[in-house]
Amino acid sequence: MPAPWTPESWRGKPIVQVPDFADKSVLADVETKLATYPPLVFAGEARQLKKALADVAAGNGFLLQGGDCAESFLEHRADNIRDFFRVFLQMAVVLTYAGGSPVVKVGRVAGQFAKPRSSPMEKKVGQELPSYRGDIINGPEFTPEARKPDPQRQLEAYRQSAATLNLIRAFAQGGYADLERVHQWTLGFVKDSPQSHRYEELGSRITETLSFMRACGITSENTPQLRTTNFYTSHEALLLGYEQAMTRLDSTSGDWYATSGHMIWIGDRTRQPDHAHVEYCRGVKNPIGLKCGPSLEPDTLMRLIDVLNPKDEAGRLTLICRFGSDKVEKQLPKLIRAVQRAGRTVVWSCDPMHGNTISAANGYKTRPFERILSEADQFFAVHRSEGTHAGGIHIEMTGQNVTECTGGAMAISETDLRDRYHTHCDPRLNADQALELAFLMAERLKQERETRTGMLRVVPTAAAE
Ligand code: PEP
Ligand code: CO
Repeated sequence: MPAPWTPESWRGKPIVQVPDFADKSVLADVETKLATYPPLVFAGEARQLKKALADVAAGNGFLLQGGDCAESFLEHRADNIRDFFRVFLQMAVVLTYAGGSPVVKVGRVAGQFAKPRSSPMEKKVGQELPSYRGDIINGPEFTPEARKPDPQRQLEAYRQSAATLNLIRAFAQGGYADLERVHQWTLGFVKDSPQSHRYEELGSRITETLSFMRACGITSENTPQLRTTNFYTSHEALLLGYEQAMTRLDSTSGDWYATSGHMIWIGDRTRQPDHAHVEYCRGVKNPIGLKCGPSLEPDTLMRLIDVLNPKDEAGRLTLICRFGSDKVEKQLPKLIRAVQRAGRTVVWSCDPMHGNTISAANGYKTRPFERILSEADQFFAVHRSEGTHAGGIHIEMTGQNVTECTGGAMAISETDLRDRYHTHCDPRLNADQALELAFLMAERLKQERETRTGMLRVVPTAAAE
């Protein structure tokens, strides 16, 4: 029997990736204050997401999860949120229409502030300072003042999350996501790119379908599904003091929920089964993501599944695989087989970003787009040969016109990286690259469905003989 869980039971466990706050009493005051603030999301919404993910786990749907690597205080502007949402909607519509699959939409947004780092210190021209750990902890500028962890930043992160979520809810429910607007989501700066032309064509087919449906009496006025969309938020549950302060007891179910976002995930560096991050996540009822990197062995994965989802609830656990394009083919099958053997229910999602980060010759941290496409493609191929459902994609992307990942139809070179390299953390896909990836996923999803329905058609004939 596991020891009893409480929102603070993680404090008794070993922990890694924690900032060194100089003044513990200021930190405690901030956490006390946060604990009195309203929840950002509601338990009922987290349950609705879990249900949608249960469908994905059963093979009926696809999870699209994406957004910034790290949200930034400085770039918190309505147009940035809107542009991210536009690209996200475009990807979702490509997957839904071309892929023929319901899409569960989850942003890495409205709470994605805390970052794990490979080194606690950063050295530059002879000076050594604490690493930047995300705006909820310290500032990105390389100065001793900025890099000092400041608990007050958590209040600003809460404020920004609330404002972002408020705007996104308005976009998702207030008419912006209306399928009639499918052509208006294209961002000005990608209007002439090959992916946009492909998207425009698809948009025209959707518009034609909608006018046919309108003629049949189905319109966005009488069918809210055409006018609104369900959009959920997610982030890495890394800063556990903040998460604890945002944990609430749901009066309807009597269960504890993380109310900092609908879905939270455990990072690849903090997934030790007996450590604090797993301890916190096991007790809240939200859908949980678990990053699975190359060092994760099947035994440890099965132990984590037992801890995080002991009752095998569908939709509870999403395994976000991030091996790297050169490792996925070797690593993924053994995890899939272990899960299948044990008869456990999970959503398999692919993060083709975090295993494909390299340093360009000019020092920029980048991700070659062809490796991202290749990992995503291999992820589908492995699931196809294992007979399991490739259930989702997890990406870092932005609606801004950035040059952070090399390659893609715009052929961004290593030299181009310096033009518009804005990320505070990892390199993100720009709108054009995000769309190209969505088209590839849509094709693979369609193939997967055709294989499945083909098999269904074959089975009864064989049985009749
Ligand atoms: C991330 O998703 O930004 C991240 C740090 O991922 P991982 O834990 O997989 O390295
Ligand atoms: Co990242």
